[in-house]
Amino acid sequence: MKALVLAGGTGSRLRPFSYSMPKQLIPIANKPVLEHVLDNIRDIGVTEIGIIVGNHATEIADALGDGSHLGVAITYIPQERPAGLAQTVQLARGFLGDDDFVMYLGDNMLPEGIREAAAEFRALQPAAQVLVAQVADPRAFGVAEVDAHGVVERLVEKPPVPRSNLALIGVYFFTPAIHEAVDAIEPSARGELEITDAIQWLVTDGRTVRAQEYAGYWKDTGKVEDVLECNRMLLDAVARSVEGEVDEDSVLIGPVVVEPGARIVNSFVVGPVVIGAGTVLHDSHVGPYTSIGRDCVLTDAHLDRSIALDGSTVSGVRGLRGSLLGRSAAVTGARLEERHHRLVVGDHTRVEVAA
Ligand code: G1P
Repeated sequence: MKALVLAGGTGSRLRPFSYSMPKQLIPIANKPVLEHVLDNIRDIGVTEIGIIVGNHATEIADALGDGSHLGVAITYIPQERPAGLAQTVQLARGFLGDDDFVMYLGDNMLPEGIREAAAEFRALQPAAQVLVAQVADPRAFGVAEVDAHGVVERLVEKPPVPRSNLALIGVYFFTPAIHEAVDAIEPSARGELEITDAIQWLVTDGRTVRAQEYAGYWKDTGKVEDVLECNRMLLDAVARSVEGEVDEDSVLIGPVVVEPGARIVNSFVVGPVVIGAGTVLHDSHVGPYTSIGRDCVLTDAHLDRSIALDGSTVSGVRGLRGSLLGRSAAVTGARLEERHHRLVVGDHTRVEVAA
């Protein structure tokens, strides 16, 4: 089996971050979403991975290289303009050959992995198998109608009036039968070749398509709130590990990770928290549920339930909560007393919090 990971797309819902970095590289618990995706794929014994890349191709290749450090072999497949998930299968035809493959949307987080789903696909050998989850509002998703035995009866992309609450959650297992389907369908109303339509084509053609309801936590990290929620979820699983320096005026409570080369000076850190390598905290209060990237500087700052990306700095601002600070973003303030601010600050942006 091979894997096809989709990391093209424009990430319009994650602006301003997606202007300067691919959304698939946003860190969750200090590890890019795409690395979490590759971990799950390697975990089902698949190491030949094709990644579809768009206008952020170089940055993705810089971050993941040939994949050898992650125990996988990556082939990058360029997509000039996003024209639908099914089009990526056509683009990857040469890479995929006649192998079965798992297609995985590169901004979807399934921290509990996809082992069970892969085992079911391998055991039952349907033409295709989709992962689904119950959602409150299925209108934003591909929606599956499934019989009592897990066989898909109908799939519709973003139906205005959904006939089920089972949404497709971005992980699909395919046999080579999908190639005939993607070549047979026409573009949808939004002008894209929809993978949902291709799978429906298989159903109409009489092939067996199965759905497995995913029991674990799942998040499409398309929006800032989703990124923060997913970060909180993953931080719940971290264990205390202090490799950096902590001075004797500082207090660490609960699961706190201090990576090598980080320094905590006269600060109060309440886990779960991850402090990246080379970061310095001075007279600050961090956590709970906060990830600080590498080489950040926090001075007289108070930050909780937030993510600060590599190289960001906060100085004299207390009460930052539910915030996402971009790479090398700088937030400064006038050492105000405790008030809550929720900031979403793009890469290389300077923000001054006034009185
Ligand atoms: C895509 C798929 C949709 C699926 C969703 C999962 O939608 O077309 O069927 O439910 O991903 O995240 P998009 O995010 O491209 O609108």
